[in-house]
Amino acid sequence: MIIAPPGLADVVVTSTVLSDVDGENGRLVIRGLPVEAVAGRIPFEEMAARLWEGFAEIDDPRRALGDGRAYAFGRLAKIFPHLANLPIIDGLRGCLASLGDDESILPHLLVTAAMPVVAAALARLQQGLDPVAPDPTATHAHDFLRMLAGEPPPKARAWALDAYLTSVSDHGMNASTFTARVVASTRAGMVASVVAALCALKGPLHGGAPGPVLDMLDFIGTEERAAAWIAERLAAGQRLMGFGHRIYRVRDPRADVLRHVVERLREEDASPRLALAEKVEQTALEALRRHKPDRPLQTNVEFYTALVLEAVGLDRTLFTPAFAAGRVLGWTAHVFEQEREGKLMRPQSKYVGP
Ligand code: ACO
Repeated sequence: MIIAPPGLADVVVTSTVLSDVDGENGRLVIRGLPVEAVAGRIPFEEMAARLWEGFAEIDDPRRALGDGRAYAFGRLAKIFPHLANLPIIDGLRGCLASLGDDESILPHLLVTAAMPVVAAALARLQQGLDPVAPDPTATHAHDFLRMLAGEPPPKARAWALDAYLTSVSDHGMNASTFTARVVASTRAGMVASVVAALCALKGPLHGGAPGPVLDMLDFIGTEERAAAWIAERLAAGQRLMGFGHRIYRVRDPRADVLRHVVERLREEDASPRLALAEKVEQTALEALRRHKPDRPLQTNVEFYTALVLEAVGLDRTLFTPAFAAGRVLGWTAHVFEQEREGKLMRPQSKYVGP
């Protein structure tokens, strides 16, 4: 019997054609492309087709996702008001859980299309506004922002959100993807596997970190306060959100990709946060080096995710749902891959009780 280390660190649980995370060198490849060649260059719809290639071919992904959003809106409109009092990530889980694998639309398209539709509808209801129906002809990212604001977004914002969604579309055997594969291995189906993945994503050690990153920037407030605030948190034994990663020992390549997205947005649409964020990042990295000299703790994707999503106009309650809207491409592709493998995931435990 092999006893795996805590957190399954360094344990390889499967093979995949979907993505490769090289933590030593800070490289991420998604479907054969480095993340730098994906974000802002390959639209979400094309990434969907690439990730599903070989599992579920799709001729016109823009149209399929547009039709999927329209279907999801019609299918879920009655449920939205019942879940609008919950945090949006929980309402999203409720809406997805009410879907089935046997609807008149393919389940991987349905769950992917439903993410922005539900997130935008619940956000509007929480503001006392009516949900806005999707525009099936729009791109996924444009329509997400349009359904939220009730009017078409500036081009630069739709581009930035698209770049974010594709940059997080898949990332090896992270906790939520692993969860999706475990559930898929029981043959529970696409919807159940994706709902399970969404539950795993919610936690602050995974997809729940970017909201707290903005909270941190708010608490710090000015560049001069950064060092003292960070030192205080670390002395109290707390973690700095947006730093550290199980796999990356160097900087998460998505952090740089997203930093460039924020910079480009800043050119068009001033973001006062960036200067403060850069100072906080630099101060945090220095403090973490002193705090844990034997453990390289670098900036992770969530730090600049927070800045991108804030700059495109998303409230922080929508950050984890937006992450899910991108990562759902990877989850669904991994479900296909796991179903093809066909073997039930069933490890063992060592009994240490009485
Ligand atoms: N701030 C302060 N200390 C940290 C941080 C941090 N951000 N990250 C790790 N450490 C410390 C831990 O306290 C621990 O110290 P200890 O050995 O004295 O207990 C040591 O570094 C190792 O930490 P682990 O939790 O064992 O490392 P692991 O690889 O399991 O954790 C994780 C990775 C969960 C991301 C961690 O770095 C963390 O909590 N970061 C903050 C939350 C965050 O940014 N989450 C988003 C991750 S990215 C994503 O999922 C998309």
